[in-house]
Amino acid sequence: MSLLEFPRGFGMYAQQNLSALLTILFLIFTLFVTVGICTDLKVLVRLSDGQITEETLEADSERDVITVEFKQGDGTLITVLADFKRHVKIFRALVLGEPERGQTQYQALCFITHLDPREFIPTESMARLRQKNSHVVRSADESRGPEQLSMDVAVNLTQAWQLSAHIRNVCGEAQQAYTSQADVTRWTGRGLQRSMFEVQPSDPDVPTPLACSVATGLWEPCLCSYRLSLEWYPCLLKYCRGRGPSPYKCGIRSCSKSFRFSFHTPHRQLCLWDEEA
Ligand SMILES: *[C@@H]1O[C@H](CO)[C@@H](O)[C@H](O)[C@H]1NC(C)=O
Repeated sequence: MSLLEFPRGFGMYAQQNLSALLTILFLIFTLFVTVGICTDLKVLVRLSDGQITEETLEADSERDVITVEFKQGDGTLITVLADFKRHVKIFRALVLGEPERGQTQYQALCFITHLDPREFIPTESMARLRQKNSHVVRSADESRGPEQLSMDVAVNLTQAWQLSAHIRNVCGEAQQAYTSQADVTRWTGRGLQRSMFEVQPSDPDVPTPLACSVATGLWEPCLCSYRLSLEWYPCLLKYCRGRGPSPYKCGIRSCSKSFRFSFHTPHRQLCLWDEEA
């Protein structure tokens, strides 16, 4: 058992009630006075297949961005960026290809969705999190999702900076970025140009494609499904009562969440993980 803690100056009464905290809290983080704007936290996380990975959580309080990155057991690199300034979440998966089946070395998938800032703890709290015991393998306190997302709109990456300045960096290697019609409605309502979004498939005469899992030809267009699981991230601040009048921030609650993205792909060749589904 370990204790997650924010250091002095964060909550005036943090050193009180230590034994009570120990029983309440699961993780130990010690707060140092942070001078740096951009901080990294590396935690060991158990993935859904039982494998353990090192996850990097980066908080940039000046740009108001949190980035979570880890490698799955199959070699896929997952990056999730939360842009609190623009309320945009960017998911990238770098999936290793199978060159012997005519694929490239890896394939970059990019999904862009609305961010509700309450999904994560605030950036400045994230920047202050420290762990005392870096050997502890973390499992989330709470499991959320799965969230099903129909990503049937292509985002023009040349214009995507209007949506979030970080899309170019995160999704530069992707051939295509996808979002949902509900988010497009939200964003165009905010004044973004509709011309940067294109509903897929773009030709209205094309019939709705089959799921890639049942499509036959390698070059057939199909509806691909990709499942991504974020196994550990700080989703809520915990407050404790000390002798003072008001509660203070004394730790975090962690969540896991899975997402299933479905999107139109021009060739089943680009969705081979969907075969055995
Ligand atoms: C994306 O936007 C750029 C700049 O407006 C434009 O030149 C390009 O044709 C667009 N690409 C697609 C695929 O629509």
